[in-house]
Amino acid sequence: MQPIQAAFPATRHRRNRRSAALRALTRENELSVNNLIWPVFIREGQGIEEPIASLPGVSRLSLDRLLVRAEEAAALGIPAICLFPYTDPDLRNETCEEAWSPDNLTNRAIRALKAALPELAVMTDIALDPYNANGHDGFVRDGIIVNDETVEALVKMALAQADAGADILGPSDMMDGRIGAIRQALEAAGHKDVAIMSYAAKYASAFYGPFRDAVGAGSRLVGDKKTYQMDPANSDEAIRLVARDLAEGADMVMVKPGLPYLDICHRVKEAFGAPTFAYQVSGEYAMIQAAAQNGWIDGEKAMLESLMAFRRAGCDAILTYFAPALARLLRG
Ligand code: PBG
Repeated sequence: MQPIQAAFPATRHRRNRRSAALRALTRENELSVNNLIWPVFIREGQGIEEPIASLPGVSRLSLDRLLVRAEEAAALGIPAICLFPYTDPDLRNETCEEAWSPDNLTNRAIRALKAALPELAVMTDIALDPYNANGHDGFVRDGIIVNDETVEALVKMALAQADAGADILGPSDMMDGRIGAIRQALEAAGHKDVAIMSYAAKYASAFYGPFRDAVGAGSRLVGDKKTYQMDPANSDEAIRLVARDLAEGADMVMVKPGLPYLDICHRVKEAFGAPTFAYQVSGEYAMIQAAAQNGWIDGEKAMLESLMAFRRAGCDAILTYFAPALARLLRG
């Protein structure tokens, strides 16, 4: 694009910014409830909404409370919800069988949600960390996070979630070859319409801290995730990973974290034109909330500005803990 403009004073850019009406007419991007996926944390029990200290405003929900909150979200027009389980400590071990148990917390939640609110899309997380004794997304053998054995487990997890009725599967593990393996297994099992949103460009980030508290993986994590999650210094590698996952059968791709990686969102959308999502992760949300609680920034304005930034960068939608707050604000 080659913008043509006359010299000052024939061109005065402030003319188009003079009033709310002119600003509305010339606005290039919109933020709508359609652009939201709401990540929620679930736990066992009844009638529980357990606040998470490092995520102000976010709670772990027992399944009965999940249904109430999901109904509110659906009524606000939020199209999709994404489930993250806090697994009971005695179900966490090094073999992670709970991850693909048909009756694990996530799979029970999927069934309950699809029965009560069939129109609300349910997305899941595929990775071993909520079930793993050492907090890693894959099996650990002699200190190594092993790829191919982990992919076999992820396939079992994917099939159990698809059987339970999940609409969108979200492999967040960063093992190689998992998208192709999951896609093949879904086809073979007759789940031809289950979508995969690949966490394709997921970085080894410091911004996941509050999430790891929320699922109880943080205190268990041995070492770091740098042998499978991406180096924050890299950008071309993200393009190669997205290309790979699309070629293996991903329907949508995600960049994660969000705001610190807007350049990656933009490159991915430009390069492939595929449905592109960003995850405004727990640390990003916590920073805005903490600053707002201290009176250092206007939390509502910072929420709106940060979410609009994803749209401007080319994202179709955003996974954000702000989803219900934004939806309410848009409702007026
Ligand atoms: C784990 C997973 C993580 C997040 C989503 N899935 C954390 C990690 O990779 O350690 C982070 C989300 C957030 O911080 O909000 N498979």
